[in-house]
Amino acid sequence: MRIAFLGKGGSGKTTTAASFIRHAASKNPFVLAFDADVNAHLAGALSVEGDIQHLGQLFGPVTNHLKGKRVDLGTKPMIMTTPPSLLSNFVRCDFDDPLIKQYGRRLDSIALLTVGKYEQSDVGSACYHSKLSGAISVLHHLLDSPTDIVVSDTTAGTDAVATSLWFAYDMHVFVVEPTQKSVQVYKDFIALMPALAAKTYVVGNKVEGEEDEQFIAAQVAPEKLLGFVPLSKHLKRFEQGHKDALEKFQLEQATVFDKILATLTAQTRDWDLYLQRLRETHVRLCHEWYNDYHGLVLEEGLDGTFTYQAVIAPVTTPQHAAEPAPVALAPVAPAPVAPATVPTTSS
Ligand SMILES: Nc1ncnc2c1ncn2[C@@H]1O[C@H](COP(=O)(O)OP(=O)(O)OP(=O)(O)O)[C@@H](O)[C@H]1O
Ligand SMILES: [Mg+2]
Repeated sequence: MRIAFLGKGGSGKTTTAASFIRHAASKNPFVLAFDADVNAHLAGALSVEGDIQHLGQLFGPVTNHLKGKRVDLGTKPMIMTTPPSLLSNFVRCDFDDPLIKQYGRRLDSIALLTVGKYEQSDVGSACYHSKLSGAISVLHHLLDSPTDIVVSDTTAGTDAVATSLWFAYDMHVFVVEPTQKSVQVYKDFIALMPALAAKTYVVGNKVEGEEDEQFIAAQVAPEKLLGFVPLSKHLKRFEQGHKDALEKFQLEQATVFDKILATLTAQTRDWDLYLQRLRETHVRLCHEWYNDYHGLVLEEGLDGTFTYQAVIAPVTTPQHAAEPAPVALAPVAPAPVAPATVPTTSS
């Protein structure tokens, strides 16, 4: 199941996501973490050190891998919403998955994928959504099972709804400070996205006493409020360089993280609805932008027989396919950075 942490700038998304990731990783053999914020701080919060590859710079090689042996595309490029085909390469929640192995960083039982930050070459020409495109394609090819844990830190506000990420998660958690502005970001989200209200929850953060708790509780339905995290001295210590301080914080707040984890594992996903939304979004995006950009009709000729069910639990060999669906993945060729096939100035 996939969870995204959202909220107002500075509300504590990255801190809460990182602590939750560590908490989930203490109970699960594998947790896939996505830093889907161009102001990338999740690696730091998880204390992942060293160079990390940025999916935001790797759209070409990433989609080259995901494309697998599919024939329906012909010579057409993939864009971030191109739905998979039966012959695509998929991504699985496993350290041995070729894509995770090549582009992820491992820390204990956590694999981290990151979109990365802006580079010099992006100045004045790249938009945030183009940076997200590699991660978005990966999520649409991810065959996570109900017991797999996938956690995403996101950018501030509700910007993710302007991409196909809006239906990519099974659960959203708003990290909300006890202020009107912070609560308003959550209210705006559920007003804009009523289809997601049922799977959208709130954690009150930086609360100081009952008054703050009551302020948040008065504005959020009780079944949507997963708990409160106090203003903690450990986090300042962590940011002052004391690496063990985040663990102290995480252990102190284990009850809230347990509640988030239990709520996440109780979610269900309708893969058919997911695919329907992906196909609809893809057609819209092709019409509104990408067909003009590429001078092609990108949405035509795609494998209409594809379903996620067919690749999750293949029952029969697909009639039209020349060979069985590639549930065993081909290794990723070490690829040079290919030119991005996404426009950089529009989503
Ligand atoms: N419960 C808490 N107690 C004390 N400080 C906190 C708490 N939660 C977060 N902070 C602090 O608040 C600041 C912002 O936190 P964080 O970076 O997690 O927010 P964010 O929502 O991810 O921000 P951005 O919108 O910039 O991505 C950090 O200095 C962090 O240590
Ligand atoms: Mg952050």
